[in-house]
Amino acid sequence: MSQRTLVLLKPDAVRRGLTGEIISRLEHKAGWRISALELRTLDRATLEQHYAEHVGKPFYEPLVEFMASGPVVVLIVEGERVIEGVRALAGPTDPIAAAPGSIRGDYGVIVRENLIHASDSEESAEREVKIFFPGRA
Ligand code: RTP
Ligand code: MG
Repeated sequence: MSQRTLVLLKPDAVRRGLTGEIISRLEHKAGWRISALELRTLDRATLEQHYAEHVGKPFYEPLVEFMASGPVVVLIVEGERVIEGVRALAGPTDPIAAAPGSIRGDYGVIVRENLIHASDSEESAEREVKIFFPGRA
């Protein structure tokens, strides 16, 4: 089943020079295709929309601040089971719990600065693609 997913390479990934490494992992999965790619500094309004499900949680404010702290790389990746697939490549939220070999497991230490966001369902993917690329159907 071909899908699309919204991926953010977070400000820590950009600052640490890891975007090429992470994008290469996405590109190397057979049949997946990058259909949008942009370096962008996110404003608060965009982040509030994107992280609406987390409003009120203790990590929300520091998360929004971190995500606005520098440029991110915004991507749309398309292909077979790409939503589940990018989540698997990323690994679980806590980088110390994430297995070596996953992006978070290989490069992350603290929970907030876990390098990558990827949509967690088809509904989230469609919602998030509209937030970041409103012109796309
Ligand atoms: P994401 O949305 O970024 O793909 O990550 P996720 O689904 O694995 O994690 P989620 O629960 O949606 O949390 C969103 C992001 O908030 C930060 N976070 N910090 N306890 C904490 O300090 C905490 N919990 C979550 C992480 O950056 C997480 O990716
Ligand atoms: Mg999430």
